Amino acid sequence: MKMMNTFNTFILDITVSIIDFLYRGRDYQRFWVLEEIARAPYFAFLSVLHLRESMGLRGPEHIYLMEEHFAQTLNETEHLEYMESRGGNAYWIDRFVARHLVLIYYWSNVVYYWLAPRLAYHLSYEVELHAAETYNKFLCDHEDKRIEEIMQDEITHAEELHKAIELIK
Ligand SMILES: [Fe+2]
Ligand SMILES: [Fe+2]
Repeated sequence: MKMMNTFNTFILDITVSIIDFLYRGRDYQRFWVLEEIARAPYFAFLSVLHLRESMGLRGPEHIYLMEEHFAQTLNETEHLEYMESRGGNAYWIDRFVARHLVLIYYWSNVVYYWLAPRLAYHLSYEVELHAAETYNKFLCDHEDKRIEEIMQDEITHAEELHKAIELIK
């Protein structure tokens, strides 16, 4: 478990440094790409839970998790809408990059969550913490009330994921 958590952090750090490098100086485009990708796991969790239900594998925390992940995915869509209002998806190349990455990320999360739900939650937990940190850095030298709220949402998501990990122990 500990080793896999380190593995999650390692993969995340590499991915983030690549995105940060490619998107330096283009904050809202970077945020848009990150939000586009970061919302996929919630839909992947919902897909797997839905499939598990159809296969008669509905656990006691099923309805709670379905509700949580549905609310989270909608909340991420609101974040995405804000980034779009700031021109985050204005360029073809950003849409191209994000929409291909998200396909890979969605399916990876489906498999990951099916095989090791706690580890999949942990990866998203790290992603949410990283997102909050990214917005926090941005807010050090920019003023944006909506980004402040979005940062708070990401912290809430991280807490909810932490709770989900404890719940399915
Ligand atoms: Fe978000
Ligand atoms: Fe989030």
